[in-house]
Amino acid sequence: MKLSSANINVMVKACRKASKTIIRDFGEIENLQVSLKGPGDFVTASDKKVEKILINELQKARPSYSILSEEIGQINNDKSFKWIIDPIDGTANFLHGIPHFAISIGLEHDDEIICGIVYDPIKDEMFVAEKGNGSYLNNQRMRVSSRSKLKDCIVFTGGPRLDSKNKELALEEYKKFSSKILIPIRKLGSASLDMAYVAAGRCDGFWQRNLNYWDIAAGIVLVKEAGGFVTDFEGENRYVENKTILATNSRISKEMIEVLN
Ligand code: IPD
Ligand code: CA
Ligand code: CA
Repeated sequence: MKLSSANINVMVKACRKASKTIIRDFGEIENLQVSLKGPGDFVTASDKKVEKILINELQKARPSYSILSEEIGQINNDKSFKWIIDPIDGTANFLHGIPHFAISIGLEHDDEIICGIVYDPIKDEMFVAEKGNGSYLNNQRMRVSSRSKLKDCIVFTGGPRLDSKNKELALEEYKKFSSKILIPIRKLGSASLDMAYVAAGRCDGFWQRNLNYWDIAAGIVLVKEAGGFVTDFEGENRYVENKTILATNSRISKEMIEVLN
């Protein structure tokens, strides 16, 4: 079965086109120019090239939609539809030759994410979801896992960054989860893929502080449409304002929220 709507087709086409550049550049990383955007936040020439391709493709198909994209920021247009783009999520992995990063695009309609795509070009894994129509991995329906005891789960997180104001809090949370779960916590370095893996049932729960909207936009609809829960650390919907995100298979949300509070 396949998820195919007009907007999803536009997003898939844009990702496929941009991924050619990513794959080519990943093969010759050592020749890439690297500039420093901020502590721990390297922006490669590839991020910018990939962003340009994505924006060109999306604008060609939907000229009236607004855009929020990591490297160039905001392009204001139609207020009700907005693409939320992270051209390469997992830049540090990309730069170090670690084959784990993704293109992430969410489509917001009236402040809600209605479509999402996370595409891992190296593994050729395309995670897509549309509100009301389910979540798919390479055209196969995805479901979250069914594990219900936190102790037996596999959970992911990321951060804290060098310049994080909440470093101590984040480390404290890490310690608390570590003392409750048998399998050591994973940190794979790409928040959009972390969320896609929750949707695919590979990961049971993911929590992180201080992410940006483009890191999580696509993941939100992927997880929800796969039957999972997405909340902030309080169990509410204010993950964007509060800058805390918890994405789970739904069954371990309560236990994870208890740990986080
Ligand atoms: C980063 C990744 C990483 C997360 C960082 C993000 P980038 O995105 O999603 O997993 O821990 O906070 O900034 O910079 O590679 O697009
Ligand atoms: Ca990112
Ligand atoms: Ca990025």
